[in-house]
Amino acid sequence: MANTVIIGAQWGDEGKGKIVDMLSAQSRVIVRFQGGNNAGHTIRVQDRETILHLIPSGILHEGTVCLVGNGVVLDPHVFLEEVDNLSAKNIDVSPARLGISKKAHLILPYHKSLDKAREAKRAGQKIGTTGRGIGPCYEDKAARVGLRAGDLTRPDLVRAKITHALLEKNVLLRDLYKFEPLDPAAVSEELLALAPRLTPYLTDVEEHIAQARRNGDNVLFEGAQGVHLDIDHGTYPFVTSSNTVAGNAAAGSGVGPGALERVVGIAKAYTTRVGAGPFPTELLDDTGSYLRTQGHEFGATTGRPRRCGWLDAVVLRESVRLNNLTDLALTKLDVLQNLPALHICVAYEYEGQRFSHMPQEEGLLEKVTPIYEEMPGFEEDISQCSTHDALPGAARAYISRVEELTGVRVSIVSVGADRQQTIVR
Ligand code: GDP
Ligand code: IMO
Ligand code: MG
Repeated sequence: MANTVIIGAQWGDEGKGKIVDMLSAQSRVIVRFQGGNNAGHTIRVQDRETILHLIPSGILHEGTVCLVGNGVVLDPHVFLEEVDNLSAKNIDVSPARLGISKKAHLILPYHKSLDKAREAKRAGQKIGTTGRGIGPCYEDKAARVGLRAGDLTRPDLVRAKITHALLEKNVLLRDLYKFEPLDPAAVSEELLALAPRLTPYLTDVEEHIAQARRNGDNVLFEGAQGVHLDIDHGTYPFVTSSNTVAGNAAAGSGVGPGALERVVGIAKAYTTRVGAGPFPTELLDDTGSYLRTQGHEFGATTGRPRRCGWLDAVVLRESVRLNNLTDLALTKLDVLQNLPALHICVAYEYEGQRFSHMPQEEGLLEKVTPIYEEMPGFEEDISQCSTHDALPGAARAYISRVEELTGVRVSIVSVGADRQQTIVR
């Protein structure tokens, strides 16, 4: 296996956690390179479900080293909670195999307050964020006033930075948003109380990756969210606050782009989206409800029902283009069972014209009408199929059509949530 980047090819929740877990069996180092605990990555092994928000999805495989890269924003409480949960399941989460980049920015209570306050104030145009403080933390990073994990070894610096940050944030919270202001001393001491547990995890992520590459070991880069939630290339402003595209695997973990040899886009066999924003193939009818029920489409982080719709090949083609995808993994194909006909959006129509690309102007995507191609459905239960040949003809035809429409090979097909329910072609 080559050094591989895993990214979501749609709007998140494509099954990245499952595929990262699977590919971790052949990897030495797994690194998260962006996002934070807005992510919820699910892994199922023999009826045991693990949902990870920050710790890379390779942690269930002994012998891997799991790293939180500089591009991630880390909530210290959530990280430690995840460590405790995994530890209770007898998974080794010692600093020998789990590390945090000293350059990763920390999510603090005022980031969460501002995230919630801004969403509450946004009239009509709510983004529907996860409320985890992701955006405000990245804002501070860009404004060069953020706290980084490495600062935890320097209490005076922590206190000074928090005091400085709250001078401004408390004005916003109290006067503009009518939220509770925060006490700098309390915020600082609460964070410093966690420092003894966090500092053993601080590490030089770049060196771990470089070492693995020198040894000829595989590195797996785990993306969060999806391409169309990317801050630059996504459906702005209904996006997250980081670059989710594969290129950011380099900047967000500290390697050159040449290290990214294979880029696998994870795509659901249909489409889902959580939160607001354009979604051309969304189904607000019984078929949409059927997909939600069959696919258990409720957020792994916030529990919100996910919006559901048909597969959108325009969206996937854009993901191929933005990431130079080398392959696709098509997940949740089993969920399509028993639908009389399957639809794939192949292009959009807008004001009488046909478009085969996503419009780049804000506000246009919500106005397009999807142009569908209809394909036969399948009734067979495919959840136990372990080879491509074992799949019914209609399922194989669907996969082939996805390959034709995207120009990329579907090298992995997932037919169930369990680690075993995977077809590698
Ligand atoms: P991620 O954020 O991309 O890692 O995806 P999530 O974990 O948020 O959501 C994917 C959901 O689908 C999880 O509940 C998985 O257990 C589940 N899942 C993954 N692959 C399959 C599949 O092929 N079939 C079914 N039925 N469920 C799947
Ligand atoms: P995984 O990694 C699906 C969405 C939120 C919201 C927008 C901005 O599990 O695929 P944020 O809190 O990031 O500022 O919210 O992005 N969002 C996700 N949707 N899966 C995710 O992660 C998401 N992370 C953020 O719902 O619309
Ligand atoms: Mg998820």
